[in-house]
Amino acid sequence: MVSATALRCARWMRYLVRENKNGITPKKIILSPPYHPSVDIMVDVKNILSERAKGMKASEIRELLKLTQRPGIISFAGGLPNPKAFPVEATRKIINELLDDSCEQILQYGATEGITPLREALAAHMRDRGIDVKKENILITHGSQQALDLISKVFLDPGDTIVVGSPTYLGATGAFRAFQADMKSVPVGEDGMDMDALDKELEELIRLGHRPKFVYVVPTFQNPSGVTIPAENRKRLLEIASKYDMMIIEDSPYSYLRYEGETMPHIMSMDDEGHVVRLQTFSKILAPGFRIAWIAASEEIINQLVIAKQSSDLCTNPFGQFVAYKYVSEGTLYKHIDYIKELYNQKRITMLEAMDKYFPKEAKWTRPQGGMFVWVTLPEYVNTREMFPKALEENVAYVVGDAFFVEDEGYNTMRLNFTHSSEEEIKEGIERLAKVIQHEIDKNDETKGVEEIITP
Ligand SMILES: Cc1ncc(COP(=O)(O)O)c(C=O)c1O
Repeated sequence: MVSATALRCARWMRYLVRENKNGITPKKIILSPPYHPSVDIMVDVKNILSERAKGMKASEIRELLKLTQRPGIISFAGGLPNPKAFPVEATRKIINELLDDSCEQILQYGATEGITPLREALAAHMRDRGIDVKKENILITHGSQQALDLISKVFLDPGDTIVVGSPTYLGATGAFRAFQADMKSVPVGEDGMDMDALDKELEELIRLGHRPKFVYVVPTFQNPSGVTIPAENRKRLLEIASKYDMMIIEDSPYSYLRYEGETMPHIMSMDDEGHVVRLQTFSKILAPGFRIAWIAASEEIINQLVIAKQSSDLCTNPFGQFVAYKYVSEGTLYKHIDYIKELYNQKRITMLEAMDKYFPKEAKWTRPQGGMFVWVTLPEYVNTREMFPKALEENVAYVVGDAFFVEDEGYNTMRLNFTHSSEEEIKEGIERLAKVIQHEIDKNDETKGVEEIITP
């Protein structure tokens, strides 16, 4: 007997052929016993993709990261917090209390904006740090990654111009690319984004008739470089945004992970004209598994983002939001951040000391005062992408640097994460990596020697 589903399916196929909907000509349908329509129905997916989806590409970095998960490999590649930084016992206690006291709320749908107590607590927390906001200025999201997606959805039409750093966070460029943004880049140095270069770039873009919508920055302990924009440059960035009537997306997952040096003011705290949209997340100070982050912006922007979010996920998971609320309201979060800072600082020191000891003098690297990453720049002739398989052979891994650039550049750079490995692994991994780099440098010296002999 042929099932009802199979009959419906066959009818649908006949309809498509007759009407030739979307220009698709179904070629065959495989009905395997007991006649369930198979997923092998021959629909040519490429013909029905949106222009937007056609522009999306699978992350090759993801593919490279899979290789780094082989047993025995010391990986500095992922951007992962250390599992030792996850507050298991405190979370268990909070979850039990929540299930006992407020189970109807935590297991129910919530408001798209986020649960009121968390929004109020976060607004109060930001006011303590000099940012004049109330709960209406706060939208809770599923991680800052969703915030980047929503911002793109709300502000970007295909071909719109925006400015990013070179290098910059690749998850952000992925989101902007998905919405077909035209990304221009400005160099990032020891002091973060070069403000003179930004001013010049914007002047040129305006002269050419573009209207840049926003500049995206990770101002404190940037992913991938670990560098921080000093206070005077933050002020300059606001002046530039005002001059060109443009928004600043201030993405700041690492600002609370400062291990030394002076705390920098949030760009939003210096903004009197409403240019800044600030993103913060619990991923690096609590646990990324909760997927809880927040956007702070003017009410007008928040309202627009809420509309976009409604059709995206209805609401951020209330369960995680209530857990995050308990952490903030009971003050447990701040004690926990102190603990994480101690753990990560030791790892940072270990990595920098090992690099000082083992890395060849031709290599240069940043000395971040916080965050999770060190950025390495090798001589121009070393291609870190080509070197990657050789590092894997030595059982050590990193992220190839060119992935963090929107232009074709950065082939001699790499990002190292210092938070995930143990201190023993860090020492061992850096020694292994140093050998791989030294080998590439020696190889170049040898070829240079040959050239010198045969060049008249
Ligand atoms: C700069 C930056 N922005 C956003 C994110 C995404 O964070 P979340 O886990 O909150 O989605 C990350 C994650 O590493 C990041 O480094």
